[in-house]
Order: sequence, then structure tokens, then C-alpha cells
Amino acid sequence: MVALSEHEYQLFQRYIAEKCGISLDDTKAYLVESRLAKLLIDSKCESFSELFLLLQNHSDANIETRVIDAITTNETYWFRDPDSWQMITEVWLPQKIAEIKERKNDKIRVWSAAASTGQEIYSLVITISEYLKNNQITAVSIDDFEFLATDISTNVLTIARRGHYDPITIMRGLKADLREAYFKLEGTSWVLKDEYRKRVRFEPFNLQNSFLFLGKFDLVFCRNVLIYFTEALRNDVFKKTAQVLKPDGCLLIGAAEIYYSMDDYFHKNITSYGTYFTLKETTK
Ligand SMILES: C[S@@+](CC[C@H](N)C(=O)[O-])C[C@H]1O[C@@H](n2cnc3c(N)ncnc32)[C@H](O)[C@@H]1O
Repeated sequence: MVALSEHEYQLFQRYIAEKCGISLDDTKAYLVESRLAKLLIDSKCESFSELFLLLQNHSDANIETRVIDAITTNETYWFRDPDSWQMITEVWLPQKIAEIKERKNDKIRVWSAAASTGQEIYSLVITISEYLKNNQITAVSIDDFEFLATDISTNVLTIARRGHYDPITIMRGLKADLREAYFKLEGTSWVLKDEYRKRVRFEPFNLQNSFLFLGKFDLVFCRNVLIYFTEALRNDVFKKTAQVLKPDGCLLIGAAEIYYSMDDYFHKNITSYGTYFTLKETTK
């Protein structure tokens, strides 16, 4: 296997910070070396310096995409952080349904801001569908909701759009009755039924960019991505998220994440179902 020198690591470290906002500390050389090893072979490079040159020369548009796909950590699963799903069903969803019924809200808009392979946003589509069905709500339908899911990695977005999951992936966090109701088995893949899959618009989006053209949201998931960012980018993401939340919109971050700088924009709501964030009066 070709080794990554300290100098080469520094080149990739800077490149990844610039392109993705991901901060790799000096202990992560092994990660870059192992994750780029296949790309090195596929692009017939004899060293990481050669691969870096290819990136810089823009001679192959695919290389940049493949580096980003390889470096990003895409770990995700169904109904991650169980408490947050309880909060959604017990607190957020009843409020939004009331707003639709009372015509205070035209469309409930949700954004999964680091969507990975789709489990987060599809878990929400399933949650809402189940809630409406189980509570026999007919005055509000899933058509009253709009789902946007974005990620910097085009590879994960392709998987998410297809909605095909292998037998191990489908098991991670998804109960058997929901699997049977929302997916069909095709060969060895569990395929999300079209009526649910087509609800979600998946788009490439870099969280370093401006959020303003995305419109306003009732709920933003920005979970398990901020941990990879520099503090400056993290604070920028908080500021930009505050700009795209509706006045009583809600932000969810990962259950294990704590960022004191959020306090500048958000009020922390600590409930028995975990924590969610709403805009401070001064940020509305
Ligand atoms: C660990 S996954 C989290 C998935 C999901 N939110 C969850 O909590 O299960 C992090 C995702 O963030 C994406 N990501 C990393 N840097 C990004 C950036 N600058 N802009 C948008 N997405 C990014 C990665 O591609 C990856 O799919």
C-alpha cells in the first residue's frame, strides 16, 4: 500500500477543510490514507502527491467528487436518537397539524441538512404517515408537508434517492412492522415504496454556502455533522440556520452534541424527550 507522507497529509488536510469545512486533526492521517487508497489505485496514481496534482489541475471532474465521497463519514440509521422521535410525535407534529387545520401555516417544510443515505428524512416521512393513520386524521395529509434533504456527498444522495437498502442497513433502528408496511423486498434489497420515496427532494448542498435561497423551515435536522466542522463553520451554520427557521421553527442536533455558541441564537428546550432548539426572541 502507498504511504501518505506528513507533507501530503497536510495538503489533503487543507484541501478538505477548504472544500467541506471538515477539520481533520493531526491524528487522522491514517483515515485519509485508508479512505483514499482505492481512489489512488483507480486513478492510476503512484503517490498521494500525484493524486493531489490531479485534484488541483481539475483534469478529472470526478476526482473531487470521489475525494469528498471518500472522506465524509456517512454513518446513519433509522430513527437515530429515539428521544427526538418521541419529541416529534408528542410535541412538534401535533402543533404543526393544528397550524394546518387552523390555516396558520400553508406548508410544513422540513430540511435534513446532512442527510447521508436518507434514513433521517425517511424516518420522518414514516413517522408522519404513521401518526396521521393511527390518529385517523383526515383534515391534514402528508401533502401538507414538504421534505428537502441535502448532503455534500453525491454518492450518498444517489443511494438516498433510490431508497434501496441492504438487509443489514434496513435492520438498523427500523422495527419489523414499519419495514413491512413501508418497504417491499426486491431480491435482497428492501425498497422504500414510491409513494413515500417520492415525497423527498434530495439535492447536493454544501453547508458552507448561504442558506437563504432554501426558504424557511418548520424543522431542521442538522445532526451528527457539526462535530466534523471547525468552530468558525459551526457558528456560521448556527447563524444561517437561525435565518431560515420560521419564528416557531425547531432545530435538532445530535443527542450527544453540545455547543455553547448556539446560545447566541437559540433557546434550549429540555424535555423528558430530549432537547430541541427554538429561536430566541431576539433572533426571530
Ligand atoms: C454522520 S452523517 C449524519 C447523517 C444524519 N444526519 C444522522 O445524524 O444520522 C454526516 C453527513 O454530513 C455530510 N457532510 C459533511 N460535510 C458537509 C458539508 N460541508 N455540507 C453538507 N454536508 C456535509 C456527510 O457527507 C455525511 O453524509
